[in-house]
Amino acid sequence: MYTYDRGQTPIDDDEKIGLKIFSISTMEELNEFEQNNIEKAIQWSLSRNFKKETILSESFIKKLHFKMFGDVWEWAGEFRKTNKNIGVDKSIISVQLRDLLDDAFYWLNHKSFDEDEFAIRVKHRIVSIHLFPNGNGRHSRLFADIIVSHIFKKQPFSWGSNSDIYPSSTGRIRYMEALRDADNGNYQRLLEFARS
Ligand SMILES: Nc1ncnc2c1ncn2[C@@H]1O[C@H](COP(=O)(O)OP(=O)(O)OP(=O)(O)O)[C@@H](O)[C@H]1O
Ligand SMILES: [Mg+2]
Repeated sequence: MYTYDRGQTPIDDDEKIGLKIFSISTMEELNEFEQNNIEKAIQWSLSRNFKKETILSESFIKKLHFKMFGDVWEWAGEFRKTNKNIGVDKSIISVQLRDLLDDAFYWLNHKSFDEDEFAIRVKHRIVSIHLFPNGNGRHSRLFADIIVSHIFKKQPFSWGSNSDIYPSSTGRIRYMEALRDADNGNYQRLLEFARS
């Protein structure tokens, strides 16, 4: 991808598939529309109470993605129908999510991990499955925030102060390193990053 003018990175045609807003032509415009949509989703999630049985379900997980991206993308809230170099084979997405949710209830009932670690482990597993065509990172972070705030009544995570998580920032590098540790079963850095 080439940046022609600062703030004017064009979007490739194949990346526009499913885009609902035809006036969007640059990545910066896309980011802004997506960010507005996500802020609406955050308001939606804050303005209600959800039980853990509701949150830890396939239908809520899809609904959250739809709330975050449904103004912008046709495929919001629908599992991916193609394979990517990241994530499981498309044919086993549902089954892998079912396994994760079963594990999550087991971990909750047996108090296997402290509250932040529970949310971070779920977040990491969900993004590793890579349920959706895009938005998996942002969806998994908001999902973790909903777990800590609704299930445990704690402050949502700060994710390295949020603004700093975008490409080529130092926050992004810390985040990617923390994810790599988590891939190897060590959640400490991701836990620290999430509260930094
Ligand atoms: N090598 C990698 N490169 C990029 N993302 C990766 C990689 N390995 C794991 N991931 C995970 O995939 C997510 C990116 O997936 P996707 O592009 O669907 O989400 P996003 O919401 O658009 O991105 P972001 O997390 O940057 O906001 C990252 O947040 C990270 O959790
Ligand atoms: Mg992305």
